[in-house]
Amino acid sequence: MKYTRDAIARMDGYVPGYQPGEGGYVKLNTNENPYPPSPRAVEAMRRACDESIRKYPPPMADRFRKAAAAAFHLEPGEILCGFGSDDLLTIAVRTFCDKGDSIAFPYPSYSLYPTLAAIQGAESVAVDFPEDYSLPPGLEKTGAKLTLLANPNAPSGTQLSGHEVRRLARSLDGVLLVDEAYVEFAGEDCLGLIRDCGNVIVTRTFSKAYSLAGLRFGFAAADAGLIRQMTKVKDSYNVSAPGIAGAAAAVEDRRWLEDNVRKIKDTRATLVRGLQSLGFHCWPSETNFVLARVPGHTAARDLFERLFERKILVRFFDLPRLDDCLRITVGTDADIDRLLGALDELLRGRV
Ligand SMILES: Cc1ncc(COP(=O)(O)O)c(C=O)c1O
Repeated sequence: MKYTRDAIARMDGYVPGYQPGEGGYVKLNTNENPYPPSPRAVEAMRRACDESIRKYPPPMADRFRKAAAAAFHLEPGEILCGFGSDDLLTIAVRTFCDKGDSIAFPYPSYSLYPTLAAIQGAESVAVDFPEDYSLPPGLEKTGAKLTLLANPNAPSGTQLSGHEVRRLARSLDGVLLVDEAYVEFAGEDCLGLIRDCGNVIVTRTFSKAYSLAGLRFGFAAADAGLIRQMTKVKDSYNVSAPGIAGAAAAVEDRRWLEDNVRKIKDTRATLVRGLQSLGFHCWPSETNFVLARVPGHTAARDLFERLFERKILVRFFDLPRLDDCLRITVGTDADIDRLLGALDELLRGRV
């Protein structure tokens, strides 16, 4: 390892959910959307793939910033675009944290957070969520330069109220990044906080509610001063011309988004009812997935493997607090029927 930085040699890399090379799977493992994106977004991406693709894209993605500013009542200068929201998380870590600084986040949460801290040589401070996934006591007292809060949280699907997030932001000395990857499926959001609290960054993605995971597009909203600092850290051309065109058109197609979100929420209710009737405990989900504890607290890995054999992919985390649970993405009604049928058979030991 003589060529590698110690911090990199010592760490494990982030392991993304399984992406099968071939079709035929019921894919409920990486929180993608089962429905196609807005036709207006698809058309805009197609048009962006003409001969103009030989040029670099506008570095600040002006077309998108204008569309998002109008849609979310922001100023363009309060918006920074990224290659997915993961890119914006990386930019935030690099902007606000030196080697040896602390980065705090609740546990269990998005498992990329400790990986980003390790890459930067920063200290991870994981603060346990209570069993009901309410605000972790002590999260406001870590002294971290950066606190990362997925809200709604992954993998629990639960959400803290805007009121609680505001109180947290006000009690921190450092920056609070509210990762709102799933917020379109939730009851409230924290975008308004960026005007009230100068230390809040909100990130959003087009990978979930907008059905554009393959496009890799997200944005951060924050006070224009914070955005200017983060802009110095980003790659010059960190989003593509088709990405800018597609995401801008998607933001403008409000009606399509509302329909898509409604379908997912309806199916989410069916999924939760079905799981509960099989004896699973489900945490209240404000997202497009459900965290479900296997009846009797056992055999989650076994169930995961048996479902895999039937080409039904869900997510299993071999981690404390999660190793008796499955995280299940909300697919189509047909996907969920197939999953619930398979679980019913497996749990009753019929196969
Ligand atoms: C909480 C959370 N934040 C961010 C992301 C990354 O999203 P993107 O596809 O925009 O990089 C995910 C993806 O699963 C997520 O669960």
